Amino acid sequence: MKQIVVLTGAGMSAESGISTFRDAGGLWEKYPVMQVASHDGWEADPVLVNQFYNERRRELLSVRPNRGHELVAQLERLFKVSVVTQNVDNLHERAGSSHVIHLHGELMKATSSLDPNNPQFIETLNAEHCNIAPGQKAKDGSLLRPFIVFFQEAVPMIETAAEEVSKANILIIIGTSLNVYPAAGLVHYAKPGIPIYLIDPKPVSVRINGVTFIQKGASDGMEELTQLLTAVE
Ligand code: APR
Repeated sequence: MKQIVVLTGAGMSAESGISTFRDAGGLWEKYPVMQVASHDGWEADPVLVNQFYNERRRELLSVRPNRGHELVAQLERLFKVSVVTQNVDNLHERAGSSHVIHLHGELMKATSSLDPNNPQFIETLNAEHCNIAPGQKAKDGSLLRPFIVFFQEAVPMIETAAEEVSKANILIIIGTSLNVYPAAGLVHYAKPGIPIYLIDPKPVSVRINGVTFIQKGASDGMEELTQLLTAVE
């Protein structure tokens, strides 16, 4: 079975109603990114950072996967699929994708601020408990924080993701401006010569050759790509 890696970014969830970061009106136009999404920001004002992610968690509970998420999940009927996402939402999983690697963490999880990647301190939040209250503690007694990779922090899953990309027979890139590293550098792990498709309504500068651009939104783009891929299978 051919292996596909689907590398996604905020544009994947745009049609579900979740705003992207760098489009006009995007999240980073509304919020000071280094105050709400960086390690220094957390150290300076954990209550503000938790409030920012509490808002995004509440928004996530009110939206649904879009057709693009569903079509990515349906690729598993014909291919071995790994989704490598920069998104912290759970829309790929809710659409049925069974192998999702979150490079930048998961909005519906919280963790210790002393030992954030220790599985025994990671807890799952849900609709009933979706807020982290000021001063709320993790299981190790430290302040409870979002299970999110803040700017200035390492990306623990990058090696796993690079390994997946290096094994792919087909690479699909959807809804990312490829601005943020190390995620953006994953494209360079693709075996030379494999088909690479990039779905985005706007042109995206990607420094590799042989990319087939599908200049559409995630849902329409995946409709077109699914036709292409199933025709050759
Ligand atoms: N369908 C597909 N792509 C879309 C759509 C859509 N409907 N709408 C917008 N896009 C595209 C934009 O054209 C842009 O190329 O999605 C991309 C979004 O880019 P960014 O906002 O930069 O988001 P992303 O690339 O995921 O950012 C990477 O930056 O702030 C950090 O941690 C954050 O994971 C995020 C990382």
